[in-house]
Amino acid sequence: MTEPTQTDQPAIEFEDLTLILGGRTILDGLNLSIPQGQVTALMGPSGAGKTTLLKLITGQLKPDKGRVVVNGVVVNELNSKALNQFRKNVGVLLQNGALFTDLTVFDNIALPLREHTDLDESLIRRVVLLKLHTVGLRGAAKLYPRELSGGMNRRIAMARAMALDPGLMLYDEPFAGLDPISMGISLRLIRQVNEALGMTSIVVTHDVHEVTKLAHLACIIANGHLIASASPHDLAESEEPLVRQFMQGLPDGPVAFHYPAKSLSDDLLGQGEQHA
Ligand SMILES: Nc1ncnc2c1ncn2[C@@H]1O[C@H](COP(=O)(O)OP(=O)(O)OP(=O)(O)O)[C@@H](O)[C@H]1O
Ligand SMILES: [Mg+2]
Repeated sequence: MTEPTQTDQPAIEFEDLTLILGGRTILDGLNLSIPQGQVTALMGPSGAGKTTLLKLITGQLKPDKGRVVVNGVVVNELNSKALNQFRKNVGVLLQNGALFTDLTVFDNIALPLREHTDLDESLIRRVVLLKLHTVGLRGAAKLYPRELSGGMNRRIAMARAMALDPGLMLYDEPFAGLDPISMGISLRLIRQVNEALGMTSIVVTHDVHEVTKLAHLACIIANGHLIASASPHDLAESEEPLVRQFMQGLPDGPVAFHYPAKSLSDDLLGQGEQHA
């Protein structure tokens, strides 16, 4: 029998998080708690800071204020050695996460195992084939990334992210550009892998409709804050204007379409800026 891994302690806590990038306040005292062992969807308009939040979890970025606590560990206080150790337990599927084009599918997945474990090649082979089997692509082991479709590429990248059996998986827009069937497959995979391996998963997605099928909890961030955190069903029913704008995809509402800039006329007429 395995020990139950579920605890009441949240998997991740963002505490009063402020982050300034390029002189702009991206996160402004954000508080968010992400439960253990579930799939949490992270939503919000483009530029809201979703990818940034994932980078704060992996310690790639450090907050200007506040704390990022993952399973009781304050990530923003880890030194680089401790951070490397910590990252072995985090699987990341990046927004533009590419496979290494000069390696086969097999070697792409074997790479983290060869880098971070002492497993011998016969064990590595077994782990790689098992991971490939999980994403339904064991038959593609010998192919190169250029021989795969976009959806297959994504599933291989997922297998690679899971190679070290992480307790935490982060997916940045795993459905972007996928056809409905591939999207359905990816969706089911994320949920199945989460349940089978008892991990915590965070999925950044714009796909409001898919979130209902995927996530136990859905969070919306906008304007540097957490706007809502509830079950996808409750979010869909919400009367809160920002939540409604987002869930219904309304172009006008509390969230601005434009990235902050000086006025268009000033820009076009070149006022306030001296060109040589
Ligand atoms: N290294 C950086 N330097 C300066 N600004 C940055 C940097 N990285 C991100 N930003 C800014 O931070 C904001 C949040 O970026 P982020 O990539 O987290 O957005 P996002 O919510 O993931 O958007 P999308 O849905 O388009 O992927 C953006 O306004 C972006 O311009
Ligand atoms: Mg992003």
